[in-house]
Amino acid sequence: MFSMAEICTNLHNSLVLFFLLVLTFAQDEKQFTYNGFNGAKFHIDGLAEIHSNGLLQMTNSSLQGSGHVFFLQPMNFNTSRSFSTTFAFAINTNVPGHGGHGIAFIISSSMNFEHAVPAEYLAIFNTTNNGNQSNHVFAVELDTVQNAVFGDIDGNHVGIDVNGLRSIGSAPVMYYSDEERKNTSMQLSGGESMQIWIDYDGEKMVMNVTLAPLKHKKPKRNLLSTHVNLSEVLLDSMYVGFSSSTGLTSTEHYISGWSWSQIGEAPELDHSKLPPFPRIRTPRNKLKYMFIALIVILFLLLQTIAGVAFTLWRRKYAELKEPWEREYISHRYSYKDLYIATKGFKDSELLGFGGFGKVYKGVIPSTQTQFAVKKVAHDSKQGMREFVSEIVTMRSLRHRNLVQLLGYCRRKGELLLVYDYMPNGSLDKFLFQNKEYNLSWSQRINIVKGVASALLYLHEEWEQVVLHRDVKASNVLLDADMNARLGDFGLARLYDHETDPRSTHLVGTVGYLAPELNTTGKPTTATDVYAFGTFLLEVACGRRPNSLQEFSADQDFVLVDWVYDSWKKGVILETSDPNLEYYQAEEMELVLKLALLCLHPKPEGRPSMRQAVQFLHKDAILPDIPSDYDHENNSFFHGSWGMSMSFPSSSTSGISHATISSDNSVRRAGR
Ligand SMILES: *[C@@H]1O[C@H](CO)[C@@H](O)[C@H](O)[C@H]1NC(C)=O
Ligand SMILES: *[C@@H]1O[C@H](CO)[C@@H](O)[C@H](O)[C@H]1NC(C)=O
Ligand SMILES: *[C@@H]1O[C@H](CO)[C@@H](O)[C@H](O)[C@H]1NC(C)=O
Ligand SMILES: *[C@@H]1O[C@H](CO)[C@@H](O)[C@H](O)[C@H]1NC(C)=O
Ligand SMILES: *[C@@H]1O[C@H](CO)[C@@H](O)[C@H](O)[C@H]1NC(C)=O
Repeated sequence: MFSMAEICTNLHNSLVLFFLLVLTFAQDEKQFTYNGFNGAKFHIDGLAEIHSNGLLQMTNSSLQGSGHVFFLQPMNFNTSRSFSTTFAFAINTNVPGHGGHGIAFIISSSMNFEHAVPAEYLAIFNTTNNGNQSNHVFAVELDTVQNAVFGDIDGNHVGIDVNGLRSIGSAPVMYYSDEERKNTSMQLSGGESMQIWIDYDGEKMVMNVTLAPLKHKKPKRNLLSTHVNLSEVLLDSMYVGFSSSTGLTSTEHYISGWSWSQIGEAPELDHSKLPPFPRIRTPRNKLKYMFIALIVILFLLLQTIAGVAFTLWRRKYAELKEPWEREYISHRYSYKDLYIATKGFKDSELLGFGGFGKVYKGVIPSTQTQFAVKKVAHDSKQGMREFVSEIVTMRSLRHRNLVQLLGYCRRKGELLLVYDYMPNGSLDKFLFQNKEYNLSWSQRINIVKGVASALLYLHEEWEQVVLHRDVKASNVLLDADMNARLGDFGLARLYDHETDPRSTHLVGTVGYLAPELNTTGKPTTATDVYAFGTFLLEVACGRRPNSLQEFSADQDFVLVDWVYDSWKKGVILETSDPNLEYYQAEEMELVLKLALLCLHPKPEGRPSMRQAVQFLHKDAILPDIPSDYDHENNSFFHGSWGMSMSFPSSSTSGISHATISSDNSVRRAGR
């Protein structure tokens, strides 16, 4: 039997138990946590689905689509409107920054959104109900498209929406890093996984929204802190969940974890249990990797090309430089500069073939400065040092009738000498080759005097004796005013430094070589004088020193023999260049006779350059040619023979004028 009291106690106990149960049930509804949504009993519509790993996908890549997810039980807001929620999400799109349209956390009086519009309406509202007080919808939008109609601040923002899409508060997506003490921007639709915290204080009516990259702890500073009066919006019973929509770009919206609380802060998500978001989807990724691969391939290709080009370039412009050359650095030209100035030693820039190699014209593009480059083939390594030092010494030879050496450059097997540019080229061009221009007598005298002066300078006036060793018309260049400039001086020494004994050249040119060179082989100032004599004949007679001539078909024509014979016959003026319209007979005879004297078979019979200059300037009187001076055997071909003569000093007189006509000048008939 039960007493009334017992029954009452039991009833009371049962009631307490019942109420405890109810309370527990109710408390359960006030807080939940999902680390992944496996087994979750949700209201789901549209494109939304829960993957087997627990990942909630709100939309797939279909265009103009939408999806909704709601916690099945309604939330009770009659005692307090405060709530706190957080969720982890990611938005993947093919083109970062161009996804659409976003995810919204919503608290709504209804789970029915069949009349809602996707795209910019986020599948929450439509054109007619947007902004209506009767909607009873609160939303926090993660909006990836800027919509001017709703006053969106940009295409990447968080907004607080009450009953409509015109946000009452919004902020660009970024987070405050407590460690770095600065805001960092984030891209919602960049595939980056993030977490958002939404906290509402129903008493103070303050809504805080905070954002951070996933696995980052909640920042101390809020992204948004807005005053919102939700007393009219939140009814006693409301559903909480998410809405998401796509527009014209295919975008996938994902949520991996969610917690909710109406009693204090939402529980923290357990990041270790959250299902992973899919990697950013294929086309973009594939493209990205293809792009990277392409860049890498291109880079490697470019590097290879650059390497090959550099090697070729190095080889193309390679120079020989040795430590001892350091002191000559200021005399050195870079091969690259010379290469560019001569257009790569192009044939079109070829000025001629000098005694030692090809001569090219060079122009420095920036300054239009002209110069000549002589390319001398030279393989010998030994002796180079001495030779280069001589070249450099030659730079200090300065005379108005010498072609100025400017500097040098050295490559393997090649020496390049840089000279002043002589615009009118070499003299032989004007004397022998099919000449379009005939040098006048006064020009010739000037040239002869110039060359004599240059040789005197080399022989006597500089600090050491310099032998030219190859005086001839083709080594005499003409400047713009047709003044003679002797070139190629000192170059003969190059051969003296050759190490190969077989290559002991006899430097010089046949017809200009003094007979004693045949026996002694030793060049002297007198051998230069001999060559100068031949040069004088070239200028006066307009003929090469030896050639097969029309009027002595069976015999080599030797210019000096012919002039000597003519002198003996008293008709020396007949040897003058027939192309000369006019000449001064006295000067012509002086030049011809001086030539014969310089061509004396015995070196001691020849005048010095100083004397030659004096004769030419009529500062001294030319001695007679000795009567026993037999030139038949004189020339280099015929061997030398003994004979001596001495020269008077500059002041002596006693002259023979035997063959000079009474008329001082000659004008040829018919010209
Ligand atoms: C907008 O949605 C409401 C329901 O929320 C519906 O009654 C109305 O017909 C819809 N309007 C349009 C134009 O679809
Ligand atoms: C970070 O952003 C917040 C909100 O936009 C702003 O109030 C704050 O001044 C910013 N802080 C810094 C360090 O830039
Ligand atoms: C909102 O943020 C402010 C400022 O950080 C803070 O004082 C307040 O407690 C926050 N409210 C909620 C409900 O988190
Ligand atoms: C909030 O809104 C309700 C209804 O409009 C109003 O009665 C109440 O005074 C408001 N509270 C505040 C603090 O503004
Ligand atoms: C010599 O060179 C100058 C300057 O280049 C030019 O004006 C002149 O015509 C040239 N003379 C001859 C004969 O070519």
